[in-house]
Amino acid sequence: MALKGRDIVSIRDLSTDEISEILDHARKMIPVAEGKKPSDALEGRVVATAFFEPSTRTRLSFEAAVQRLGGRCLTIADIGVTSMRKGESLYDTVRMLSSYSDAIVLRHPNEGAARLAADASDRPVINAGDGANQHPTQALLDLMAMQEAFGTLSGLKVVLLGDLKYGRTVHSLSLALAQFGSEMILSAPKALALPEDLRGELDALGAKISEEPELKRAVRDADVVYVTRIQKERFPDEGEYRSVAGSYRVDASVLEGAKPQLIVLHPLPRAGEVDPEIDRTPHAAYFRQAFLAVPVRMALLSSILPPGSGG
Ligand code: CP
Repeated sequence: MALKGRDIVSIRDLSTDEISEILDHARKMIPVAEGKKPSDALEGRVVATAFFEPSTRTRLSFEAAVQRLGGRCLTIADIGVTSMRKGESLYDTVRMLSSYSDAIVLRHPNEGAARLAADASDRPVINAGDGANQHPTQALLDLMAMQEAFGTLSGLKVVLLGDLKYGRTVHSLSLALAQFGSEMILSAPKALALPEDLRGELDALGAKISEEPELKRAVRDADVVYVTRIQKERFPDEGEYRSVAGSYRVDASVLEGAKPQLIVLHPLPRAGEVDPEIDRTPHAAYFRQAFLAVPVRMALLSSILPPGSGG
């Protein structure tokens, strides 16, 4: 695979074949991710995880992936402990990190931060979320969760529910689903609709998209319901957030009449959009989805930093 040394800033950076290869590789990594099989695929490698926004899953699953593969991490989990607090730019910070590590995993609140970091860095940069823009590695694990459940991505009916405006995970995932020929049903409050430029890009790709704001109707024939949290932190003002807060929730009544094999996915964290009563049903696939972050990120890192490549 030609991923050696590459930046992954957007899901657009990966072709359909490359995504399929990463998912195949990730499946083989599951026993390593579970700690049942050793691997030294990243022995001697140092990966910097620089997170300037809160994270549980993305940072820790990247770090678990590196450590299970015999590598080491340099971690920034809080901007307050860095010299950015003294006014150092992101550009200079990333230049430093690139001289201390073999690859950088970056999360930042600003759209475009990962592209800037890739320009600043001599080492590969992986975007772990830049504002409301992109979260490409989340899309990979979302695809893996769907493929694991259904054996295919082609022809799946996927409801994208919730904050389609600010939700970076759906921005990456929708582009990937379009590549694989899945059907998308957009279900969102009007104020949280998919950005027009992205909708235009999906239409130009020939994506099969419909809209169904009424949740029960959207779910009726679906294979997957991909639920998102309203991204409160991205709203320009509190009033705008309050006007949509609590406007949707997946609970048992929503799933009455759904296909028995329907799965509910969520990038997590959840904040009330999925009733915990769903956790006990066969529809709940979001915790498995979160685990799949580890093999997916193992596959990606070991392809970007293959043994003997010297970084
Ligand atoms: N899915 C996801 O990005 O979760 P975290 O914000 O916890 O990393």
